[in-house]
Amino acid sequence: MNDRIIIFDTTLRDGEQAPGASMTIDEKLRIAHQLARLHVDVIEAGFPISSPAQFEAVQRIAAEVEGPVICALARAREEDIRAAGEALKPGKRTRIHTFIATSDIHIDAKFGEARYGRTLAEKRQTILRLTEEAVRLARTFTDDVEFSAEDAGRTDVGYLAEVVQVAIEAGATTINLPDTTGYCVPDEYAAMFREVIRRVQPPASIVFSAHCHDDLGLAVANSLAAVQAGVRQIECTINGIGERAGNAALEEVVMALKVRSGRFGQPQINIVTQYLMETSRMVSLATGFPVPPNKAIVGRNAFSHEAGIHQHGVLRRRDTYEIMRAEDVGQQPEQIRLGRHSGRHGLFSRLAKLGIELPEARKEEIYRRFLALADLKKEIFDEDLRRLVEDQPAEDEATPWRLIALHVATGTHRAPEAEVQLYHQATGTLRSERATGDGPVNAVYKAIDQAVGAAHELISYELRSVTEGADAVGEVTVVIAFSGSRFKGVAQHTDVLRASANAYLDAINQLELFRADRESVSFVRSGIMQSFGGAAA
Ligand code: KIV
Ligand code: ZN
Repeated sequence: MNDRIIIFDTTLRDGEQAPGASMTIDEKLRIAHQLARLHVDVIEAGFPISSPAQFEAVQRIAAEVEGPVICALARAREEDIRAAGEALKPGKRTRIHTFIATSDIHIDAKFGEARYGRTLAEKRQTILRLTEEAVRLARTFTDDVEFSAEDAGRTDVGYLAEVVQVAIEAGATTINLPDTTGYCVPDEYAAMFREVIRRVQPPASIVFSAHCHDDLGLAVANSLAAVQAGVRQIECTINGIGERAGNAALEEVVMALKVRSGRFGQPQINIVTQYLMETSRMVSLATGFPVPPNKAIVGRNAFSHEAGIHQHGVLRRRDTYEIMRAEDVGQQPEQIRLGRHSGRHGLFSRLAKLGIELPEARKEEIYRRFLALADLKKEIFDEDLRRLVEDQPAEDEATPWRLIALHVATGTHRAPEAEVQLYHQATGTLRSERATGDGPVNAVYKAIDQAVGAAHELISYELRSVTEGADAVGEVTVVIAFSGSRFKGVAQHTDVLRASANAYLDAINQLELFRADRESVSFVRSGIMQSFGGAAA
């Protein structure tokens, strides 16, 4: 049996049929060029009869994209086939893909009119005739003609074999048997191919093709089962986009065939897998369909490890938790993502990569503070780690005032209100105060002033983001004035109001330490004076 598997990409046709995924002609061209770099064998570029834009997209792709066969879709109707042939004219290697429905449900719904016959048997005969005429006409435009029996997955297999026989005799070179509704399960879909092939006994040159939809999440599994039944072409889309729940995802099909090559007779596949990630991003950008983080192969998390045990494992040996190499699909290798489930190994190995060697004595403290930050922030980035290591522990014994609790309420129809609870280390006092303000920060600062028993003049307030992500750490810097002196406070937190409160308290603490310092200097000085009998004045 031929060991080459043809990857037929239909991102620009079935993929674009996904509700809301439409692309401009320029976007389609860009993607078609990228698919050529990826080395797909066939690009289904569109359905030319369906609109002037579709016609033009197919025409330009046929004219400009070299490498893959460029294919155009056409119903089994003369006008469709002529439009497809016309659009493909500028192409060097082209294919017309013509289709007609064959399941009883579709026949009933689409061929209800008496002109197609009165009974199901008569309508089936009409479909055989239309199949033959369509394939013959398509062959007048190109030698490469694909025929699809729409809803093959729910078609009576005896009738399906008859249709396939007619299509082959009329000149079809590829026979596609789609699971149009995503209804089949893998062994059933494979059995359909085996049975059709058994009944038709096609010449070896005929390529059977699988085209699966993902309504039950089985599109990839069905496509792979079809390969085991002798299919040598898989129709698929980048990121699995397509009608309803989508089509089989190209990246998943290709990597399954490569990673589990032995299960499929070591087939030859042309795809340059290193471009999978880039292509996925391009399609996501053009369609506006984000790729879920947990998406196989091209998802952001597909090669990331967060749990401590997994991080420890992959750091020792990547194949403990990775069945393929991230770089083989264009992803970053060894993605240790730091978060609340990470262990010491993950954290310290990242710190070492950043060139930060921690003394043994600090490791436990850093790990504890890392976990505390990870509770507040979903993902810890390198910049977070640098800050974590540079900062001294928050519970500095020398800190006079500490924020114990903070509540802020604000809204469109109410004045911002803040409640703070502060602890004074030296005296062991706990103070709670509440205040309203012009804004939430102003309310917090007023409540703090009340709690510490002094009003401070706020000279400047600055907020900036110091790390990445929607839950980035914000750094607040404030300058306050008191009795003509200025004091600066800085604090960081993922919650900017907490950062604001702590920065203000930091400045107040600087002020308090400064005053305590001055008092002790004057105390010492007055002591010196007294011992000299108060001589100087
Ligand atoms: O799903 C389907 O049946 C199709 C055909 C046009 C091949 O997309
Ligand atoms: Zn389809």
